[in-house]
Amino acid sequence: VKKFETIKQILGEDLQKSPSHSIGNAFAPSNIALCKYWGKRDQELNLPVTSSLSVSLGSKGATTFLEIIQDNHDQIILNDVVLQSDSPFSRRLVTFLNLFRSNPQLKFKISLHSNIPIAAGLASSAAGFASVIKALDQLMGWQLAPQHLSILARLGSGSASRSLWQGFVEWHAGSRDDGMDSVGESLTETWQDMCIGLLIVSAKEKILSSRVAMQRTVTTSSLYSAWPTKVAQDLATLKIAIAEKNFSLLGQTAESNALTMHATMLSAWPPIFYSSPETISAVQKIWSLRAQGLEVYFTQDAGPNLKLIFLQKDAQAVQMNFPELEILQPFSN
Ligand code: DP6
Repeated sequence: VKKFETIKQILGEDLQKSPSHSIGNAFAPSNIALCKYWGKRDQELNLPVTSSLSVSLGSKGATTFLEIIQDNHDQIILNDVVLQSDSPFSRRLVTFLNLFRSNPQLKFKISLHSNIPIAAGLASSAAGFASVIKALDQLMGWQLAPQHLSILARLGSGSASRSLWQGFVEWHAGSRDDGMDSVGESLTETWQDMCIGLLIVSAKEKILSSRVAMQRTVTTSSLYSAWPTKVAQDLATLKIAIAEKNFSLLGQTAESNALTMHATMLSAWPPIFYSSPETISAVQKIWSLRAQGLEVYFTQDAGPNLKLIFLQKDAQAVQMNFPELEILQPFSN
């Protein structure tokens, strides 16, 4: 119900208009949060408790090809594999598309391609929903501004609201009940020599979706009350670090933010622990490399894999220590 109100505010009359094209085709980058989104104040609209800040991954992300089909069901294809209609991802996507059909008979073939390893825990929701809403914008002929697409993408997945832009993006928590001020904003600063390394320590499926995990954390963790204050501090610090190109400050703040998020999960009940033994070895290796003077930091989301943060000048040294690392340069394609 609330979702529909949001869509009516953005699309108005266009909501009833039939599609202007029969296809849509769009790319959206994955994003990695340096200051995390963890906890919702509204589960229907994916409104966050706090703001967050991410960096988008350039050409790494998801491409959606959307086509109107004459059928009774949507057809969903992920990396060339047709998904069962009852798979969790299909259901989420169909539910999302239901919000935007100008008539219930309108069915789509949705073909999603991710060029980031699925196991990286990056392949799914953010880039996926952002690319779907961009493809839908083309097909329906809405011609919406990125801010509005950000609000609509958020209805599919919170972190998708940050995947409408490249570079650093802040997702403002906002304070309105309707979420019209809970929107991504692209920061003007760039950081040419910043590198992100994807460290896949385990290709196993997630033990628990971030959606379920964050809700459990909000409702059961005694540490969660400290999270909003921590985020406010980290956000302010990250912005200073970015403005002053203070890499140590950026790395420390991002790593500490991720560890604090995981601490709130450890204190949830039942406890949530996404790290595997391989994650812990990698973290210890990063800390020992830092003790030896190599400036490498990590962040971790709702899975065992790590994202390493370092500067171009140290890329070779980092790669030598983590031969399997895939290195991305978010600010230079
Ligand atoms: C740990 O955006 O996947 O990656 O809004 O329920 O779809 P939903 O959650 P999602 O959560 C992402 C959590 C995170 C941190 C982040 O990306 O900020």
